[in-house]
Amino acid sequence: MSQTLLNIFYQSHTGSWAITILLFVISYFLLKAGKNKASKIVHMILRLFYVIMIVSGIGTLIGYSFTPVYVVKGIIALVLIYAMEMILVRTKKGTLGQQAMTYWILFAITLIVVVLIGFGVITF
Ligand code: HEM
Repeated sequence: MSQTLLNIFYQSHTGSWAITILLFVISYFLLKAGKNKASKIVHMILRLFYVIMIVSGIGTLIGYSFTPVYVVKGIIALVLIYAMEMILVRTKKGTLGQQAMTYWILFAITLIVVVLIGFGVITF
């Protein structure tokens, strides 16, 4: 992969991850505040950011020749996206119930691990 293309993927990834998490938080609190329509719009934008994160993540992964630690990071990031999606959809449907804690813990742990691997704090 050319250095320019890798740079485009990497920069999009670096520039989008915090926005992704922020959009999730905003969508959740809008939902909690009963502003369902606003939350739905933010949720749609959040889903667009999932795609940006996955495409730019895989692009970077290819550029890095599938370094094992980043393959693991990518898989954990997919679990993080799953947790965010479950929290939002189930909160909206009112079916989060007893599993609320499980999903929030899953969200917190995967987020911390993904960011720590991303910034090279966790390596193997
Ligand atoms: C919401 C999901 C994700 C979040 C929050 C996230 C977060 C991050 C963060 C914080 C970094 C470090 C950025 C920096 O150095 O400035 C990073 C880098 C990276 N991510 Fe992700 N990521 C996500 C999804 C993915 C996916 C799905 C993949 C691959 C399939 C992936 C692969 C990578 C790779 C290869 C790097 C480069 C590592 C480096 O050079 O430090 N990420 N990610």
